[in-house]
Amino acid sequence: MCGIVAYLGQKIAQPILIEGLKRLEYRGYDSAGIALLSQGALHVKKAAGRISFLEEKLDKPLADQNIGIGHTRWATHGKPNETNAHPHIDYTGKIAVVHNGIIENYATLKTWLNSQGAQFKSETDTEVISNLIGYFYSTAKSTKNNDRFEWAVQRALNELVGTYGLAIMCTDYPDTLIGAKKGSPLILGVGKNEYIIASDAAAIVEHTTQAIYLSDGEMVVVNPAGFRTTTIDNVEVRKELNQIEYSLDQIELGGFKHYMLKEIFEQPNCIATCIGGRLDEKNGRIVLGGIDKFSRDLTKTKRIIMTACGTAWHAGLVGEFLFEQLARIPSEVEYASEFRYRNPIIDEGTCVIAISQSGETADTLAAIEQAKERGATVLGVVNVVGSTIARTTDAGVYLRVGPEIGVASTKAFTAQVAVLTMLAIELGRRRHISAEQAKYYIEELKEIPQKISRILTQTDHIKTIAQANIEHDNWLFLGRGFNYPVALEGALKLKEISYIHAEGLPAAEMKHGPIALITNRMPVVFVATKCSQYDKIIGNIEEVRARNGCTIVIATEGDEHIRNYADHVVFVPDAPEPLQPLLTVIPLQLLAYHAAVLRGHDVDKPRNLAKSVTVE
Ligand code: G6P
Repeated sequence: MCGIVAYLGQKIAQPILIEGLKRLEYRGYDSAGIALLSQGALHVKKAAGRISFLEEKLDKPLADQNIGIGHTRWATHGKPNETNAHPHIDYTGKIAVVHNGIIENYATLKTWLNSQGAQFKSETDTEVISNLIGYFYSTAKSTKNNDRFEWAVQRALNELVGTYGLAIMCTDYPDTLIGAKKGSPLILGVGKNEYIIASDAAAIVEHTTQAIYLSDGEMVVVNPAGFRTTTIDNVEVRKELNQIEYSLDQIELGGFKHYMLKEIFEQPNCIATCIGGRLDEKNGRIVLGGIDKFSRDLTKTKRIIMTACGTAWHAGLVGEFLFEQLARIPSEVEYASEFRYRNPIIDEGTCVIAISQSGETADTLAAIEQAKERGATVLGVVNVVGSTIARTTDAGVYLRVGPEIGVASTKAFTAQVAVLTMLAIELGRRRHISAEQAKYYIEELKEIPQKISRILTQTDHIKTIAQANIEHDNWLFLGRGFNYPVALEGALKLKEISYIHAEGLPAAEMKHGPIALITNRMPVVFVATKCSQYDKIIGNIEEVRARNGCTIVIATEGDEHIRNYADHVVFVPDAPEPLQPLLTVIPLQLLAYHAAVLRGHDVDKPRNLAKSVTVE
């Protein structure tokens, strides 16, 4: 949700900023801009739309432009036009700011700044930040222990209510970059004689793998002599250098047409890596080093609350089934945006699990804080190493699937489900299931990567199904038991990238309303694998067919009988019921992908969406 990048070093900043913005474009892509500083002047270029539009407007960079800031926007306040694009320059013309986040008290501050003579050009909340810094900078009388630029930034940040990841320059300080963080991610990449401030590591990894992660309420002042981290109240903070875990080839397309397709096809390897070294087949145990120190608490857990948003919430719903079935622990999954405001009941013995690909989702973070305030142990199931959620939770399990760039989450979903499956097996083993049963699930889990590979070979067949139904604007996705969350995820995938309206439901709920919608113009996707409710779901398919509905059925290999009920069938290998979501979701990801491509949409950058939602 907005990407920011800033450079200070000996190279020409402009190409580095543009490359960085392209790598962050998945965070927001409705407008973009850069500001370079040379010879005491700011050189600003902005464009509505994609980074490529900004590139068309750029001047040839000058050799002395070694410092700059850039931004790719996901609009919150103000339309996505050129005026509202970042960077924003203050009314004195000295301060340039790029911002990710929302300033909640911007209206009050704007009124006050207006009364002090500051003029505003845009409709954004961000311009309040540049003007506030500009105001304090231009009116500073004494700056006590630090210099004027730094002081003005700290003074301004103390007035802000809301969230920010910021990069700031001042024309009087051609050698200084300031970054600050509260509620939105910010990393400082530390290279040889160069520094890059960015929203995430994707914009840094090409230049250095050494980074520091700022915490909320911290800022960093960077100049050629080095960097200094403090709180926004100017208290010195010592930060450790961290190794960025991933490499450049993980964020390249590698021959695929889209990141989403690449990530779908990466799933066999991703799941193998996710479970690799964590399965103790011999003893029927799972080894999750990240949560070792909470092992005893987990054994005593009486209730599990998972909290998440979007696709991660769907993974949590699978988790609910898993924990109840395998470990017999009462479990529920909560939308983080609801949980955070709900006065939730958290007793002793409640374990909260936050699930997040990015580790930066604002609502999930707030839900974690809420749970911690009430004394819960909070575990994270997170992909991005070093992300805010990974650092805020008491302990956690990383997904290990590498960067996910496609806005529609795919490999993170299957890995989230795989991690929850491992947790459920281990908790089950400690209280409910035998060593033999645990070994059985572990052996079956090991088979999942090659079974996913088999499903992926059917991509052309799935494309044909998408093609045959591409004219239809409303789809239903139905499943029962473990496949009910998969139906929800299938519907979400289709709507977010193809803009086809889709609804996911537990199959039996169809007759309580949605059945009224069924005509021969409404494809109904059934996840109807061999499972305990197989006969029931066949009944639901019959109900749709009786009303001339078109049925697309995800079924178990060898179930030839199902062809009698289906207009189209995709077969998946058999697996124990609790592991089936890891397989049945794959055809639905491909179905959504092909539908979006057939409709001519930009699969990796769907309309209005952002990969990492760092605002409420
Ligand atoms: C956004 C993304 C979804 C994602 C959700 C939660 O809506 O577009 O793909 O599932 O945020 O994100 P998280 O990073 O917390 O998993």
